[in-house]
Amino acid sequence: MASLSSLLSVSPYSGCKIQPSVIPLNKRRSVNNYVSCKASNNGEDSVNKFDRRDMLFGLGNLYGVATLSGKDIALADDWSLSPDVHNCKPVKPSAVGKKMDCCPPKIKEIIEFTPPVVPTPRVRPAVHLMTPDQIADLEKGIQMMKMLPEDDPRSFAHQAKVHCAYCDDAYKQMDSTMDFQVHENALFFPFHRAYLYFFERILCHLLEKPDFAIPFWNWDAPPGMCMPKIYTKPSSSLYDENRDKCHQPPKLLNLNYGGKEVKDPEIVDFNLRWMNDQMSVETAKEFLGKVIKRGNGPENGSGSIETSPHNNIHIWVGDPEATIHGEDMGHFYSAGRDPLFYAHHANVDRMWNIWQKMKDRPRDHTDMDWLNSSFVLYDENRKAVRIKVSQCLDSKILGYVYQDVPIPWKDTPPIRRPKQERSLGNLPPTIDFPQILSSDITTMVDRPEVASPEDTINKNEVLVLEDVEYDPTLPLHFDVLLNVGDEGEDVRAGHIEFVGTFTNVPHGRTTYHKTSLHFVITKKIQQLGLEGDKKVAVKIVPNVNGGDRIKIGGIKIQLEDIE
Ligand code: C2O
Repeated sequence: MASLSSLLSVSPYSGCKIQPSVIPLNKRRSVNNYVSCKASNNGEDSVNKFDRRDMLFGLGNLYGVATLSGKDIALADDWSLSPDVHNCKPVKPSAVGKKMDCCPPKIKEIIEFTPPVVPTPRVRPAVHLMTPDQIADLEKGIQMMKMLPEDDPRSFAHQAKVHCAYCDDAYKQMDSTMDFQVHENALFFPFHRAYLYFFERILCHLLEKPDFAIPFWNWDAPPGMCMPKIYTKPSSSLYDENRDKCHQPPKLLNLNYGGKEVKDPEIVDFNLRWMNDQMSVETAKEFLGKVIKRGNGPENGSGSIETSPHNNIHIWVGDPEATIHGEDMGHFYSAGRDPLFYAHHANVDRMWNIWQKMKDRPRDHTDMDWLNSSFVLYDENRKAVRIKVSQCLDSKILGYVYQDVPIPWKDTPPIRRPKQERSLGNLPPTIDFPQILSSDITTMVDRPEVASPEDTINKNEVLVLEDVEYDPTLPLHFDVLLNVGDEGEDVRAGHIEFVGTFTNVPHGRTTYHKTSLHFVITKKIQQLGLEGDKKVAVKIVPNVNGGDRIKIGGIKIQLEDIE
């Protein structure tokens, strides 16, 4: 076990000077104490189909995919969800108001990805632990990418456009009229893994250093809970002007940032508790997100980490004062223009590796529609390569691992709020929906009857916010609390009562977006001692202006099969 001092120590390259929290838990003050930025916070499948698929892939040997014959690949493609890369169209992000061309140079030929033969995996370092030589290589590599002409698919400008194209609906799904979207569903982790993988290969190639590895922003641990200093020097190729001026180091990161500054001396502690909560989810659907089938449109099926802190960090880094509010990181079309984006996503990717190993069994989706989904990306030789989700499951097979650093959130679970409500004295009324979220909403919600003892083993109790309609052009945010009947000011991410959060990173879509949000509450009901209660109080708290742009259609608690 690492000592507390080693966890809290900072390398000369880090900007986070973090003091251990010294305030006893019972003396800790209310959180919803918003302050201006000026204040520092230092403080489907038939059985037959399945058999055939198993034959194709070899059970448990996904690595064998690359050895499929061309005919087999074509057969496997019958089920896959892939972007129609030959028909890329300009996107029109609402915030920009005009069309933007994020399409790659015309693709003439697509080669199938074959995993590389890598004798020793590259080690992606934590940004704050990088050696001067590693920093110099990273700066040089990014600079070389920035100097390539924009129409070179390996250029930094083009790499940024890759994200824009895949994230702002430049592609339709192959053989479908639906958009191909890699956010808010289970393509999120594999897409960003594949994207970073080719980004890294391009850097290795330009630097002529096969061992070069991109760093990760270790935001899940105290030394990484602020903007990494090496990215903030204006003279560096890692710098981006479009970042929140108030969030420069040593300003501490709030992993549930919703757009308002919160003065919170305990933020590091609660960031760890929130990480523990988000990483403790059991199922692939909860962690990776929901599997989208071809022909199905965008809906919210985000996994835990994508929702938070991934989305929150995008908003936290982006500049609210940029010509277009929130550029670069705060919008999907522009996020890839910030070199910090790649370090942010390397840590998101690292979270996938950690989650996979938190149990002694395979944890990823086994749905062939997911495994056969694919992306097309350019490699270091300017060749367009199709890589499948099944080829992205194991980072070691792709030739890299992450530097081993302490993971303090593993031992920092969520805690009860200071004010505990086992049974609420004055029960809030059960209110009618729909409701506009211009201010807090509290309502009693019926819990489902458990039909059989097996239900408690095979099913999860899930809180569902139905028909949530929101304006996708705004950085909206709200939190969902359980068993809180009062104003709930002392409840925050990292408390057991805190069920989940919703953060919208503005998209290309301009029409109101309608979705339903599912939060698994099985464990929280037990931890709060509510198993015997027929109803529970649910509170929804909008955290930024714009709550009037969110409509909640209904709310219920249901049992869902554990997938
Ligand atoms: Cu494609 Cu962090 O988003």
